[in-house]
Amino acid sequence: MNDQSGREFSTLIDSLSTNLTSFFREKQHFDFLTDRFLPALMEQKKKNSNFKIRAWSAGCSSGEEPYSIAISLLESTQGQGRWDVKILATDISTSILETAKAGIYDAERVSPVSLNQKRKYLIPHNDRDGKAFKVSKELRDTVIFKYLNLMNDWPIKGPLDFIFCRNVMIYFEKSTQERLINRYWDLLDSGGILFTGHSESLTGIEHKFKYIQPTIYMKP
Ligand SMILES: C[S@@+](CC[C@H](N)C(=O)[O-])C[C@H]1O[C@@H](n2cnc3c(N)ncnc32)[C@H](O)[C@@H]1O
Repeated sequence: MNDQSGREFSTLIDSLSTNLTSFFREKQHFDFLTDRFLPALMEQKKKNSNFKIRAWSAGCSSGEEPYSIAISLLESTQGQGRWDVKILATDISTSILETAKAGIYDAERVSPVSLNQKRKYLIPHNDRDGKAFKVSKELRDTVIFKYLNLMNDWPIKGPLDFIFCRNVMIYFEKSTQERLINRYWDLLDSGGILFTGHSESLTGIEHKFKYIQPTIYMKP
């Protein structure tokens, strides 16, 4: 695809899909991550001298979701030894990925980030009218943004510890959702977690996940 047709394709994609997202959207997922999942995962990994944590934000939009995951992971692993934390963040829209990579957000968009976390991970950025913030280098180094259409092949090396695929599958037919859910299963490590969006329950889909709480599923 050349630059011109790539831009046209991306504009078409943007008009077909909504990019709605926010920092720490669906807070219960981040509470589950930091209060329940990560402490147990880290304990288990320490026993096996495996200090890698790998996650995927599938349909990451303008980056608020993977950066929120990165903040949660960095906060949980800080002062706990040398953890190697990486989040793959993918989307079908190349223009939204550019916004995500730049990591610059208006002050009101970062309001869900706590003051303490703002101090650590957001740098005041005054290029725009009014106040904006740019995510820190540490956050940007933790997240790898890539173009990926979920309908195609996934050049992703598992196993992954958890996957966020939230508010993306809602646009797909049940049969497509079922195929995706089972592909996520294949990529997850045992004990790994799949987070879906608030209106994306797995009811009516054939799968092997264990239900943990609404929109949180575990590969046993
Ligand atoms: C509503 S946003 C959700 C963002 C984030 N996951 C959240 O819940 O806050 C949906 C995103 O899915 C992306 N998307 C839609 N279809 C896709 C596909 N086939 N492959 C990859 N991404 C897709 C859109 O470009 C959009 O950025």
